[in-house]
Parts: sequence; structure tokens; C-alpha cells
Amino acid sequence: MSHDMVRAAHHDAAFPVDPDLPVDNPGIEEHVPRYTDVEVAAGNRAYRRVLALLALVPVLAIVNVVCYFAIPRNVGFNVLGTNFNAHALALGLTGGLAVLLIGIALVSWGRDIMVDEEIAEERHPAASSPEERAAALVKVKAGIHESQASRRKLILGALGGGVGVLALPAIVLLADMGPHPTAATRRETIERTIWAEGVRLVNDVTAKPLKASDLEIGQLVNAQPENLFYLHGTDYLVEKSKSSLIIVRMDPASIKIPASRQDWQVDGILAYSKICTHVGCPISLWEQQTHHLLCPCHQSTFDLANSGVVVFGPAARALPQLPITTDADGYLVARGDFTVPVGPSYFERDSSKDFKEGDQ
Ligand code: FES
Repeated sequence: MSHDMVRAAHHDAAFPVDPDLPVDNPGIEEHVPRYTDVEVAAGNRAYRRVLALLALVPVLAIVNVVCYFAIPRNVGFNVLGTNFNAHALALGLTGGLAVLLIGIALVSWGRDIMVDEEIAEERHPAASSPEERAAALVKVKAGIHESQASRRKLILGALGGGVGVLALPAIVLLADMGPHPTAATRRETIERTIWAEGVRLVNDVTAKPLKASDLEIGQLVNAQPENLFYLHGTDYLVEKSKSSLIIVRMDPASIKIPASRQDWQVDGILAYSKICTHVGCPISLWEQQTHHLLCPCHQSTFDLANSGVVVFGPAARALPQLPITTDADGYLVARGDFTVPVGPSYFERDSSKDFKEGDQ
């Protein structure tokens, strides 16, 4: 077959051969109707499948709410060496499955039920004429009609119902945002740590008590309260996140120690909260020469030789310092809890006791 014959064979009136173009416009391939368009029974099955998937969504939403209240939070089990929390697993599975079913139903609707038509859009005219716009509007209306308008309403109803009932678990989960932060609740939670008078400072990896005489000038150690290791599970994690310390030893002659904090340190050994006062990242990038501590998250920099004041970055207040001393055996111990809440700021926080540059 000659080249011209091939070109002619590939084109119809909608895609005329243009002798100026190097490659022919191949046009749209012949439309192959879907099985669900050809077989009425298959179309009905697809329609029922979409409805069935959407009907399961409210069921799962209700099961999710029931699981929230029925399964105790401390029930766990172990599968192949991995620990699972039954409460979290049930909520995750039912909630996730509900969202997955909505997704599958939408894909199935679009693939099997909506109108199946291939359209080639010509590029040249950027704006359509009023006549073309009017003609397009007629086509859109016809498309809506052809997209199984009566079925569409039922599917949309089922979709709306499923998504609407899914709001229930979302509302129930709001209860897990924690207790209302009254002053009393704050005092017992975020404004308190397990540091107390006489609690030893221990190495956070070995859990061994730290002796003042073992720390050298220029050294930094991550530390925890000894009583942290009596806790387990969530209690352990919550208290660890508030109590973590960094201990540094500096030459006392090279640092500023305000009069009110003279007895908070032991021969240049100072203890600071490890939790950044910006948004709470753990910090331990210590620049020995400048005595600066750098937070890796947003580069807040604290001067540990000057009561932890901020010298750079978005943190708005100094790192809280823990008053320390030594016990009869020479081990570092706390003199009490932090005098200000550790970690990020919050609306109700009283900032009057925060250390500021120039305080004595
Ligand atoms: S959390 Fe430390 S600078 Fe933002």
C-alpha cells in the first residue's frame, strides 16, 4: 500500500489529511464500549456494587465509635514480636477501611457507570465564540443526563450519608485532645516534672548516676531523673519528654552566674532542660568554644554560659535551668523541680519567672 493510501485509510472527514504536516493526525481510536454499557445486567451489578460499598461506610463509622468506648486503651497483644494496642488498631482499621471503601466506590462509579466517551479537544482557538459556549452548555446538560442521572442521585445520597456518618468518629476522637487545661490541670501535667529534691541525675543511656567529679570541663551529657526508670509505658514517655536534661561543665571563671543562681550549679556544672522553648525539639548541638547550644529544628541558639538566654532564632525565652547540687556521695542531685514550665510556650503560661538577660 502506498504512503498516500495509508494516509487516506487512517483518516475520515473529522481529521482531514493536511499535506503541510510531516505526521498525519491519527484521530481517535475506534471506541470500544465497556462491558457495563453493553450488558445491562453487568451495568446493574456495577451500580449495586457502588451502593453496597457506600452502605458499608456508616456501618464501619458506627463500629469505630463503639470500639472507641468498648475497648480499654491499655489492652495490647503481640504478633511476631511486634506489640499492638487493641484500641488504636481497631480505630485505625475501621476508620481506614471506611475511607478506603469511599475511594473504591468513587473509582468504580467513574470507571463503570459514568458516561464513557472519548473526546479530542482541538487546541487552536483560545476563547470560544458565544455559539460554541451555548453548544457546550447543551452538551454538558446532555452529559449530566447521560451520566445515569437517576442513579447519580442515589449514589450521591449514599455517598453523602456515608461521609456524614463518618463525622461521628471524627467528633468522638476530638475527646482525645486531652483534658480542658484548667490551672489545676496544667499544674499537675505540663507545669510539673518528676524532678524533686534529692533525685539523682543519671546518664540517659546507661541510667548510671552522674558524679560531679567525673565530668570534665567542656563535656556535655544527656541526663534523666533516676526515678524515671521506675515508670513504664505512657507514663515513662510523658515524663521523659518533660524531664530530659543536658548537663554541661564549663570553667566557672568563663561564665556568667547570676547571684540568684549561684547555688543552682556545682563548680561550673549546669543542668538545663533539653526541650527547646520554641516548639519543643530535643536539643544537644553544643558549641564548646562559644558555650552556645543550637536547636537543629529552627536554629534557635541558647547561651548556656548566661542562664540559657536566647541569642538567635525564633525561641522566645531562655532554656529552663534545673537547680542542682551534690549528695553526700558526690553524685549530682536536683534541688527541686524546674522553677518554670519546660518546653514550648502556650497561651495560659505565666512568663513572669522566665530568666531574662540582666536578671540577677
Ligand atoms: S524547636 Fe527549636 S528552634 Fe524551633
